[in-house]
Amino acid sequence: MTAIIMDADPGVDDLAAILLALASPELSVLGVTTVAGNVPVEASAANACKALALAGRKDVPVFAGCSRPLVRAQIFGKHAYLGAFPDHVVPATDKRPEPAHAVSFIADAARQAVASGTPLTICATGPLTNLAMALTLDENVKAGIARIVIMGGAFTALGNRAPWAEMNMLADPHAAHAVLASGVPVSLFPLDVTLQALVEDSHLQRMREGAGRAGRALADLFQLSDRSDIDRYGRPGGPIHDIMPVAFLLAPELFEMRHAAIGVETGDHTMGHTYADFSGEAAAAGSAEIARRVDDQALLSLLLDRLETYASK
Ligand code: BDR
Ligand code: CA
Repeated sequence: MTAIIMDADPGVDDLAAILLALASPELSVLGVTTVAGNVPVEASAANACKALALAGRKDVPVFAGCSRPLVRAQIFGKHAYLGAFPDHVVPATDKRPEPAHAVSFIADAARQAVASGTPLTICATGPLTNLAMALTLDENVKAGIARIVIMGGAFTALGNRAPWAEMNMLADPHAAHAVLASGVPVSLFPLDVTLQALVEDSHLQRMREGAGRAGRALADLFQLSDRSDIDRYGRPGGPIHDIMPVAFLLAPELFEMRHAAIGVETGDHTMGHTYADFSGEAAAAGSAEIARRVDDQALLSLLLDRLETYASK
């Protein structure tokens, strides 16, 4: 079983990622840490609490993290207006974040992983501020994190929050740069691959009918998000970016990965732009890989099958 921390900014697709992880016996979710991104950190922490209550897993702790990016002026997601998930869609809960800061929780878990020899994986589906902060604390934090699987970046695809940049990278490019330069092994799932799998109406119907109140809530939230940009996506449906790094931990054979040396621009005019060198010694020597293709049908089947474990909850 792989021990993971979900570092997220829920976020509709973050909710899908959290539900998928909690429905998967291969993963042990030690905690959910949250960060400012799609929404302010108070809302992302409240949404994580609601997600865990919805999943019937109030035992999993939530830790609120960084409230702003390291250097740049703050931005939020296009759907920030959704803010905290509305109570009529995702029911209110008495679950609250723990008193400790997300960065402390991540650092302590990493140090414990070193002490116990149990590898820790971080699944990051928001801006990388918490992880950059944790990695600066001491070398044991870095040593304790076996791999970071990240939704972020755009290489051949256009950006989504700016023409040149994907949201998670744009929201905190300095943090992304620090994480990618840390030397911790990284598997990155950029828009190039996340836009290969779209959630269509038939998928939402299956969630509604077969996955209990969690499936209904997720389908309703998807319906509230922007799902109609056929010009951008090429067909009806909407993206579900953040499930990809979780799915990779469950079924790596669904993805075609390539080693690369990866960088993130931090300059004013190209902030958050990601670039990759797939050739040469840098890619071979580096510890990063980028997803290039996904078996979209198998991925969505995996998600929908796993969500069915919520049918009776
Ligand atoms: C990423 O940005 C967020 O809005 C989504 O939750 C996802 O993590 C996609 O660019
Ligand atoms: Ca996210």
